[in-house]
Amino acid sequence: MSASAPRVVLGVSGGIAAYKACELLRRLTESGHRVTVVPTAAAMHFVGEATWAALSGRPAATETWETVHEVPHVRIGQNADLVVVAPATADLMAKAAHGLADDLLTNTLLTARCPVVFAPAMHTEMWEHPATQENVATLRRRGAIVLEPAVGRLTGVDTGKGRLPDPSEIFEVCRRVLARGGLDTDLAGRHVVVSAGGTREPLDPVRFLGNLSSGKQGYALAATAAARGARVTLLSANAELPDPAGVDVVRVSTALQLREAALKAVVDADVVVMAAAVADFRPAEYATGKIKKVEGVDPAPVALVRNPDILAEISAHRARPGQLVVGFAAETDDVLANGRAKLARKGCDLLVVNEVGGGKAFGQDTNAAVVLGADGTEVTIPDGPKESLADAVWDEVAARLG
Ligand code: CTP
Repeated sequence: MSASAPRVVLGVSGGIAAYKACELLRRLTESGHRVTVVPTAAAMHFVGEATWAALSGRPAATETWETVHEVPHVRIGQNADLVVVAPATADLMAKAAHGLADDLLTNTLLTARCPVVFAPAMHTEMWEHPATQENVATLRRRGAIVLEPAVGRLTGVDTGKGRLPDPSEIFEVCRRVLARGGLDTDLAGRHVVVSAGGTREPLDPVRFLGNLSSGKQGYALAATAAARGARVTLLSANAELPDPAGVDVVRVSTALQLREAALKAVVDADVVVMAAAVADFRPAEYATGKIKKVEGVDPAPVALVRNPDILAEISAHRARPGQLVVGFAAETDDVLANGRAKLARKGCDLLVVNEVGGGKAFGQDTNAAVVLGADGTEVTIPDGPKESLADAVWDEVAARLG
């Protein structure tokens, strides 16, 4: 391993997911990182020193009072290029948020001046508790990257939000943060508004006109913006997805409700991203009772009226100077030409154009797109996870925020 290998501290706090940190450690060392493992005393109940030492090729640093002459409680943090805590328990994040330093890992967190990534793992109730949420918000405000826990099977028979994100995902974040020099908090202090999902335009109490948007891309935009330090308001239209932590979620259903919520939210926004699929038309009439079929009588045609174009309205009447507005365009044909025309028509600063239809984009976990800028730029984003596309969009936004 070269002397210039990035120095990573892997903090491990005491949760059953500690065993998954072994996989993260293996990926880090195999890709040429010099890793010092700092497990808490509780973590050592789950995975022992021998495992950490064997996988990292170095002794694990467990005690503030060992090798005191080397001042490990100061040196380990000072010398690190990145600290990643995986799993980060509610207790560990509470200590970090309040600056407590009663063991080697919490000391290391106080002396580190490099990027810090927390990968939380805990039961859903603990994650959702206001105390934890406030601690997460504090850590994020200070520039730490707190990943969203994954949703799925927890310890025992429970399922919900709180699983440690997949070690491969944590590894990708670490690699990205090291490559970007920790610039992932470039949205700190910004308020961003993201719309997600698809509107539903009711015909009667049980029927609506809708679309196939799952909301995954908008939710990825919200989660990644929060991870990059932004205060995020997510306007969610009928998306059946868990709320990203640290994000204010406003639920809407129709285009008119989305417009009302958007105009309210954008008042103090630095950035507005309209990722929702908004119905262009709504039924002219709403039947208060269920529409019944009548034998032998043809159904009445459904008359439609235009919905307001929210993106165009927000673009034309910027709520504050320098507000950046981003639109999305789902196209099936002539993707780029239609995208350019739409960008001009909507008057936004950026338009993320993706090709849909034939199983592409809607409801999928990956997406490819071209980001068109009103300034003439054209950035192609290859097919990849919706989080990667979201990050690429925030890169374009951050470059323009100055
Ligand atoms: N949009 C909006 N209000 C509407 C319709 C769309 O704010 N009433 C926003 C979407 O959120 C998206 C962008 O406009 O950011 C593009 O929407 P799209 O439906 O693809 O474009 P249209 O203008 O409807 O063009 P066309 O129907 O020709 O595809």
